Amino acid sequence: MTQALDEIKIGGLGASRKRVEDDRFIRGKGNYTDDITLPGMLHMEILRSPLAHARIKSIDASKAWDIPGVHLVLTGEMMATRNLAWMPTLSYDTQAVLATDKVRFQGQEVACVIADDPYIAKDACEAIDVDYEPLPVIVNPKQAVADGAPVIRDDKENQPDNVVYTWEVGDAAGTDRAFEQADVISRLQLHYPRSHPSPIECCGSIADFNRATSKLTVYMTTQAPHIIRAAVALVAELPEHMIRIISPDIGGGFGNKVPVYPGYVCSILASILLERPVKWIEDKTGNLISTGFARDIYLDGEMALRSDGKILGVRMHCDADHGAFFSDAQPSKFKIGLLHSAFAAYDIPVAHLQARGTYTNKAPGGVAYRCSFRVTEAMFFQERMVQAAAGDLGMDQAAFRRMNFVADEDFPHRTPLGFLTDSGQYAKCLDVGLKAVGYEDFRKRQEEARAKGRLLGLGISTMTEPLGAGNSREYDILGIKMFDSAELKVHMTGKAIVRTGARTQGQGHETTWAQIVAHELGIPAEDIVVEEGDTDTAPFGMGTYASRSTPVAGAAVAMVSRKIRAKARKLAAHLLEVSEEDIEWELGRFYVRSAPDRGVTIQECAMAAYSNMPDGMEPGLENTAYYDPPNLTWPFAVYIATVEVDPATGVWDVLSVVAVDDCGVRINPMIVEGQIMGGLTEAYAMANMQFITFDAEGNCVGSNYMDYLLPTAWETPGFELHSEVVTPCPHHPIGAKGIGECAAVGGPAAFVNAVIDALSGTGVRNIDMPLLPDRVWEALTHHRDVSGAPPVRSDD
Ligand code: CDP
Repeated sequence: MTQALDEIKIGGLGASRKRVEDDRFIRGKGNYTDDITLPGMLHMEILRSPLAHARIKSIDASKAWDIPGVHLVLTGEMMATRNLAWMPTLSYDTQAVLATDKVRFQGQEVACVIADDPYIAKDACEAIDVDYEPLPVIVNPKQAVADGAPVIRDDKENQPDNVVYTWEVGDAAGTDRAFEQADVISRLQLHYPRSHPSPIECCGSIADFNRATSKLTVYMTTQAPHIIRAAVALVAELPEHMIRIISPDIGGGFGNKVPVYPGYVCSILASILLERPVKWIEDKTGNLISTGFARDIYLDGEMALRSDGKILGVRMHCDADHGAFFSDAQPSKFKIGLLHSAFAAYDIPVAHLQARGTYTNKAPGGVAYRCSFRVTEAMFFQERMVQAAAGDLGMDQAAFRRMNFVADEDFPHRTPLGFLTDSGQYAKCLDVGLKAVGYEDFRKRQEEARAKGRLLGLGISTMTEPLGAGNSREYDILGIKMFDSAELKVHMTGKAIVRTGARTQGQGHETTWAQIVAHELGIPAEDIVVEEGDTDTAPFGMGTYASRSTPVAGAAVAMVSRKIRAKARKLAAHLLEVSEEDIEWELGRFYVRSAPDRGVTIQECAMAAYSNMPDGMEPGLENTAYYDPPNLTWPFAVYIATVEVDPATGVWDVLSVVAVDDCGVRINPMIVEGQIMGGLTEAYAMANMQFITFDAEGNCVGSNYMDYLLPTAWETPGFELHSEVVTPCPHHPIGAKGIGECAAVGGPAAFVNAVIDALSGTGVRNIDMPLLPDRVWEALTHHRDVSGAPPVRSDD
């Protein structure tokens, strides 16, 4: 009779185990960068440029040096003497650490003061006198490529204009032919605005250089500690084994904490020069105006359609506004991230995408804010375009999608722009969503309401997201191949510690990695601790972003557990005095095939690994696995929102939101639901209220939380989540696909499509996000599209 453990009881796969990390978070016992105080620690503040584009004529820091308590004032000139005025970015560009020649965006770092406390440092920053000569400002790609536009990056040789790159993918000639055969051509232009990840905790670092040991320890808010260690080794020319990056608890990252920021570099140099720990903690405005923005992309597309509804081909052109420095953290092969994942869920024979990146006088942008490198833009455009095309054909939104979906039996499927998707049940997800929202009934109610002057709308959005970069053949950052790792040490008593190269920032890895080990080994999850974020102890990994943790590090956890199980099997054979071939495994226990009652637990094997191993066997029960995924994982989701728009004010209220997510096997259903709700909340915020933009002078409008609105529980609608569709990932060791970002990726189009649907019959095809009431009112009143592209009027 089987004596296998009950997987749910031991907190294995499928257990909605409460997050173990929350014990310390909700008791105020988290340990964030700003909680750390080191003996003799000094504080750093940054002086930022008030202008978006200006030549620096002079910097006079003498008054700052004279303020008691000031230890050091760093300027670009001083950085230049150490070859540190500029640093390489993660996209093969350069970025000013402290400005020397010009400032290129409002908020750019100009000088740093290191003082006894942050208040003295801040006052001293204000005592620095910078003489600027203003220059013409560029705030969008159109201005960037206009004749006579000032060249923003005149620091670079061979940079005659403001174009960062041009890039294309797909079949241009084949797409032209598809358009020649089209019955109908549908067009859409839109701007996906800048949005800011705004984690609760801002960025910061504490650099601690110890002259006696020559070791540099940096506590910092990074989602990718090992990449930072490599970057510090290269930029500061320090030996890698003498650099320790510790990423303590992180109060949200969302992609904002992947890039390397000037503040990190300055605090490191200051600590080396002063031989004291130096802490830099960014303030909220500093975070909003200077750290990694996302999106800011102009999309222009056409779809070739047959009159029966079949999509024959797609053309996309996109202009990406990267700000003053191209510093995206993304796979180097793909200049515009994974934008070419657009239309992956649809069976479209041919497509072509052209992209152009431009420099503008804005903070560096394009980070993957809760998405897999521009996939949010891809899915938003896809679903807005699909809605427009169905409308142009006079077809039902749902029927048009279902007709063009990749069929269940067609996997693996080569997408029109070159990816290979792994698996999915797209039509089934749509059916579950339509049933849940009461689709047919809503359409009837919508018509009845319309007759009474009320505007109801329903928006469908689907998404499939390429999650889990690498494989290492195609994915690298700065030449470092993308894979991940896990180390597992099982102690003598059967308790264990797992370390991975990922870094949780709220996703619950401390809970879910233990569940994977529990599933593989039968060690109860509560007997396993998970540790991440210290480069001296964690195995090398590329960090956490782009929902890559479960697909890559999570897979490594499963693989290392299997290595442990293989050794434990040998120990079991030794203990049971049979040959290994006679041993069977059930959860938590090995037993003799011919005598199932004779068995040993995994804990007994662990004890034997230290106390009773067979002759010749290396003692101990620990191992490391590096996992290089064969492909990305491709979760799928359907999000449906219903809204009511007030025609008098343009205010829109959400009536319902239904989410059907298929992320393969769910490790922890409760955590997955939390990830989906968080993503939908951010999606709603992007669609509804998050307004951060620029006026003609390059002033950042929305640079504080009075203007840049974050949704609270009051505004956020309720969400109905569905988990009944499960398509295990065929190549992931436990069948899981990523989930962390899906709802933030696919959600925005559901809300926008719903509002545009409510306005159907008015001729309005597009309103750019955020759909502020005045924009909706303008569209409704004047029957025209409303663009949100900067520059905005300064009185907006
Ligand atoms: O890379 P990141 O952690 O942001 O995203 P993820 O890999 O999608 O995981 C987010 C959280 O959801 C983690 O705690 C995962 O272990 C959990 N998860 C899960 O329980 N089941 C899945 N199929 C996917 C993720």
